[in-house]
Amino acid sequence: MVAEHNLKPADFIAPVFVMEGETKKVEIPSMPDYYRYTLDLLLEEVQELYNVGIRAVNIYAKVPDEKKDNQGTEALNPEGLMQQTIKSIKEELPEMVVMPDIALDPYSSYGHDGIVEDGEILNDESVDLLAKMAVSHAEAGADMVAPSDMMDGRIGAMREALDEAGFKHTGIMAYSAKYASAYYGPFRDALDSAPGFGDKKSYQMDPANVNEAIREAQLDEQEGADIVMVKPGLPYMDVIRAVKENVSVPVSVYNVSGEYAMIKAAAEKGWLNEEEVMLETLIGFKRAGADLISTYFAKQASKLLSR
Ligand code: PBG
Repeated sequence: MVAEHNLKPADFIAPVFVMEGETKKVEIPSMPDYYRYTLDLLLEEVQELYNVGIRAVNIYAKVPDEKKDNQGTEALNPEGLMQQTIKSIKEELPEMVVMPDIALDPYSSYGHDGIVEDGEILNDESVDLLAKMAVSHAEAGADMVAPSDMMDGRIGAMREALDEAGFKHTGIMAYSAKYASAYYGPFRDALDSAPGFGDKKSYQMDPANVNEAIREAQLDEQEGADIVMVKPGLPYMDVIRAVKENVSVPVSVYNVSGEYAMIKAAAEKGWLNEEEVMLETLIGFKRAGADLISTYFAKQASKLLSR
């Protein structure tokens, strides 16, 4: 009666990993109980997510090395794995909100989120390409695109490109305050997408900053973002609050792979109670000001909440 916040399955966005092939699922070594699926099995998994009350999935595709280059050629392939996955989910389950990831790293021979030249990431060239990628995903049927690349000006460019291509109703969830974080390690294992040289500090944010997060989120809102995101979650609770108080669009948080791995590992050792720590963490995000939570715990938490 006196609880100020609550959790429900519709608060969650479930990240899902898809790979080429048939009838296979592979557990991600640094993410216990979390799998990469071939499309046929992913469709069953997405149906299961829907059945427990989840209404949005964030899709990531694993791209084989021979399809990677520096121009994101495969990212724009209308028959590419990502485009096929979007199409299939919307055909099978039109009620599920489909949010494909937009960034070059899974497609990049350098493992970077943009185009590389002489050891630098080219902002404006990357933005043009990412905007084309957004249109390609919209053509496949995406409800919202989710740019995680952190190039400057990409939200405005995507909004314009989507509108011009006739996708005025396709939304944008912007990874606005995305920090250069070591918590992304297990995710990079899942997609085999670790940067080949250097790090992502020239485009992702400095963990020391909070005013910059507000500035990034406000810019994205002005450029047309429908949801702004803070990422990672746990070490950035104050950033969620600060962003929430300074934008008027919904705020999401990404409870990232490393945060998932920490809880799973401690629970495996018998050092923490997995279910209780998971729910305490998730309600913490709501209390900090998040409207939506992207989390690898989405299914497990939803099942628990409806028990
Ligand atoms: C890359 C991307 C990353 C994540 C989502 N999109 C990793 C990175 O920036 O290197 C991380 C998600 C997670 O750790 O759960 N565009």
